[in-house]
Amino acid sequence: MKGQFPVDRFRNLPTPFYYYDTNLLRETLNAIRSEAGRYDNFRVHYAVKANANPKLLTIIREAGLGADCVSGGEIRAALAAGFSPADIVFAGVGKADWEINLGLDNDIFCFNVESLPELEVISALAVAHGTTARVALRINPDVGAHTHANITTGKAENKFGISMEQLDEVTDAALRLPAIELIGLHFHIGSQILDMGDFVALCNRINELQARLAARRLILPHINVGGGLGIDYHHPNRQSVPDFASYFACYHKHLRLQPGQTVHFELGRAVVGQCGSLITRVLYVKQGTHKQFAIVDAGMTDLIRPALYQAYHKIENISSERPVEPYDVVGPICESSDVFGKAVDLNAASRHDLLALRSAGAYGEIMASGYNCRALPGSYTSEELA
Ligand code: LLP
Repeated sequence: MKGQFPVDRFRNLPTPFYYYDTNLLRETLNAIRSEAGRYDNFRVHYAVKANANPKLLTIIREAGLGADCVSGGEIRAALAAGFSPADIVFAGVGKADWEINLGLDNDIFCFNVESLPELEVISALAVAHGTTARVALRINPDVGAHTHANITTGKAENKFGISMEQLDEVTDAALRLPAIELIGLHFHIGSQILDMGDFVALCNRINELQARLAARRLILPHINVGGGLGIDYHHPNRQSVPDFASYFACYHKHLRLQPGQTVHFELGRAVVGQCGSLITRVLYVKQGTHKQFAIVDAGMTDLIRPALYQAYHKIENISSERPVEPYDVVGPICESSDVFGKAVDLNAASRHDLLALRSAGAYGEIMASGYNCRALPGSYTSEELA
């Protein structure tokens, strides 16, 4: 055991693989339950896109969270893990007919609708089904988030949501179209947000829009504020459970609700981010001209975040206590961007050492690909290896 890892159990396992600390996941879920539970009108959904590993989905469902899905495949994954359709919300800027039909067949709780043409298609498909679709309008609030440009979603230039100028027109359509029940508004401004001020800005915008609707005597029972709470990638052990108390208190303080309204959250990264690590073996230590490389058997196909977003993941050599040296930690893929970290201080590494890439539980395993005809990484939970 080094740190939190059962290294001896790892030694005989084929690498690379994801390792999930289910104790930490449960601790995180308990914190969510108790902090959101302070407010009896708060309802938390898990954003399945962050990690759809069935072992984790089951634990998350058992903790009482709902599921936020963005594709038919995610709806199927949520149903397979036992989530009730009544706890499933379905967002996505390009829902295909079969995906809408899947939602209608299962009578999911809500479609988060991102455009007028989508609303018209949902109406027509629901009429054909002889059912009613509950919908929330996803509004693009034009609120910036202080995060990576590739993961902001709530600015006017982003493809997501209905523009605020169109709110009245689309609301009218939702009230007029057959087989549509308008039940709420939906928002999401981005991901890996650590500045509570960004969420305050969203609350202020929602308050404005609610006032606009109230002027039309329209009060919708559900306000979905999306997800986005970030985690500490640099110090995964310092605050391994995110500060849910501040997060929920921020919404409680700044959102002006109408009587009877429920607030929905869609958290992904904050739920599963810190419980997962990618475990990889050192294949070779190679001396370069001015540096040394630790060439590992995991690549950008297993964890694409560093290559795609220049994201930082803390890297640890979990099988060495030798003095620290700097390494460029790189994968085997034929791409120059297949680099996990440059000048990373690691306990001196040699062939077959195991490295852990920390904070990889969210958007790690689920974004793996088969590029270079590579196999997808496996996964183990701490319970399985105990
Ligand atoms: N709700 C909606 C509508 C979303 O689009 C997202 C994430 C979430 C909820 C969950 O956000 P979270 O709580 O996890 O921040 N692959 C990127 C992140 C993309 C996030 C996309 N949308 C990454 O690896 O950083």
